[in-house]
Amino acid sequence: MTEPLIEFKNVTKRFGDRTILDRVNLKIYEGEVATIIGKSGSGKSVLLKQLTGLLKPDEGDVFFRGQPLAGMRRKEWHAYLGQISYMFQHNALFDSLSVFDNVALPLRGKARYRLL
Ligand SMILES: Nc1ncnc2c1ncn2[C@@H]1O[C@H](COP(=O)(O)OP(=O)(O)O)[C@@H](O)[C@H]1O
Ligand SMILES: [Mg+2]
Repeated sequence: MTEPLIEFKNVTKRFGDRTILDRVNLKIYEGEVATIIGKSGSGKSVLLKQLTGLLKPDEGDVFFRGQPLAGMRRKEWHAYLGQISYMFQHNALFDSLSVFDNVALPLRGKARYRLL
């Protein structure tokens, strides 16, 4: 079976005594479109922030192509981040571009990544 592009294994995230993510397991495969749905405050942004290193799990690990983010060296981490694009919810889009082109903008700046 192919390796997931992104995998969360038993990821737990707490703020003080509040547990926001409780042993989350998730696999997303290359080419898959995934949607995370939940009511406001349920932890969707906290989940996504673990992918960019804005937040780190208290327990568990996040993997990219089988490699734990926590174990990446500086160079690997920057190469990984160069493949991630993150769009904020409010007022952070260029209105002259499509949603796709907004998301693609930082990636297009790096000639190494080929986009549709
Ligand atoms: N840096 C933080 N410090 C403390 N609590 C936080 C922090 N970030 C998020 N939270 C709390 O975590 C919960 C989930 O937040 P969030 O992931 O932003 O929800 P949403 O599903 O709406 O994106 C909320 O109760 C929020 O108040
Ligand atoms: Mg959110």
